[in-house]
Amino acid sequence: MSKLHLGVLGSGAGSNMQSIVDAIEAGTLDADIKIVLADVADAKILERGKKHGIRSEYLDCAPWKTKLEGPAEDRCIEILKAAGVDTVVLAGFMRIIKPKLLAAFPNRVLNIHPALLPAFPGVHSWTQALDYGCKVAGVTVHFVDSGTDSGPIIVQKAVPVLEDDTPETLHARIQVQEHLAFPEALRLLASDSLTIEGRRVRIK
Ligand code: GRF
Repeated sequence: MSKLHLGVLGSGAGSNMQSIVDAIEAGTLDADIKIVLADVADAKILERGKKHGIRSEYLDCAPWKTKLEGPAEDRCIEILKAAGVDTVVLAGFMRIIKPKLLAAFPNRVLNIHPALLPAFPGVHSWTQALDYGCKVAGVTVHFVDSGTDSGPIIVQKAVPVLEDDTPETLHARIQVQEHLAFPEALRLLASDSLTIEGRRVRIK
């Protein structure tokens, strides 16, 4: 077992971070959250972090809107390292992660994506699944590589798409599974159970 020292990056509500906090507080995940960073100054994820006594700060990522690069990326790496982070969790962080941050935390950056990858990478994937006519949707937790939502898959969970679903009802059903999937993936990582062979993540 290796206790995880997490750095969480987010942009929004932070319900996934909350599920990780809850697992830690319930004693079902051997981890602590060293810092929460958000690229949106008033993101609820910062409020949630502070409420649990976690250092939670705004990270100005200007001038870019969709990626973490340049001085902001350098600052982010510096802050995470100084805080003692060994594993970076992207919990609704709406920016592309560049190779420099990945190199600073090799095979230690995890993302959650609200679709059964490789279907529907990118934004609003639950709406894409609905519009496509999928009968099943879901969530993926994966290691991050330099592509978009393309790294090796750790955990996936499926949900049915129901006849009268709207994007909102489907997303809500997916989120219930997200909140199980992220702690589960981190639990596997903390128990040293994961090895990466090419695209495949093996679970011991
Ligand atoms: C989730 O749907 C997650 O899968 C996606 O962004 C959303 C974040 O939600 N990457 P929250 O901020 O964790 O509530």
